[in-house]
Amino acid sequence: MDNRPIGFFDSGLGGLTSIPYLRKELPRERVIYFGDTARTPYGSKAVTTIRRFSSEIAGFLVKRNVKMIVIACNTVSATCIPQLRKKFPDIPILGIISPAAQEAARLCRPEDRLGIIGTKVTIASHAYRDFIRLSQSEAKIFETACPAFVPLIEEGIIDNEIMDMTIRHYMDDFVRENDLNRIILGCTHYPLIKKNLQRIYPDLEIINPSSIVINRVKETLEAEDMLADDPEYTDVFYASDLSENFVQMIDHIFEGSEVKKVEFKNFDLEEELGHVY
Ligand code: DGL
Repeated sequence: MDNRPIGFFDSGLGGLTSIPYLRKELPRERVIYFGDTARTPYGSKAVTTIRRFSSEIAGFLVKRNVKMIVIACNTVSATCIPQLRKKFPDIPILGIISPAAQEAARLCRPEDRLGIIGTKVTIASHAYRDFIRLSQSEAKIFETACPAFVPLIEEGIIDNEIMDMTIRHYMDDFVRENDLNRIILGCTHYPLIKKNLQRIYPDLEIINPSSIVINRVKETLEAEDMLADDPEYTDVFYASDLSENFVQMIDHIFEGSEVKKVEFKNFDLEEELGHVY
């Protein structure tokens, strides 16, 4: 048993899309979430920059005594895991890509045509494709980056025509020309536009890593005997820019799921790290 919180982080609010699944599967667990809203998006930045940012955030979570770190960001999972595990060897660090790729490989039949959408960095890494191949899947795999999705989602531009047009811009030809029947949401922001995608491409089956990673969290905590048994929790959500959007998104994402106590805190980059960006 271990009642310490689980640390989740993302470049912004995307990683929040995993939290309702955590609540459902593991209602006694507490969360410390960090969204790097001041420096988002990560998905078009240099890998060295993403490594620096993610190592700062992991250090911040370790200082707050989390029992595990969940990288609720595909871009960081694709590029930073070996370095983070080396720097913080005493704490389990879970990425989102490997559990989702294994689940996709399990679901896909050889005749399936699977699309992967994500940020530029995630797509350039081919991490999903490589992990799926490692699991011996014979499905045909196609990948494309959709770099404008994250800034629009961070702005809350979701239920409207601009988002639908942007989706069509990146995806109409991709889906049609490759005759896709399944798609992986290879960025944790994308579950926030899942309804748009389902409406625009009703025949596509959507695989959502934000939910799949929670099964891996559960397995790991059970295997290590680290489950919490404290029903009285307060989740803490840190943001490097505690904007109105971030707070509103919590309501949007947790709609219908029970959030008991939530505290919001601004993370002051200068105070914490001794420098500003
Ligand atoms: N939510 C992120 C991901 O899963 C990051 C997107 C970004 O910052 O560009 O890749």
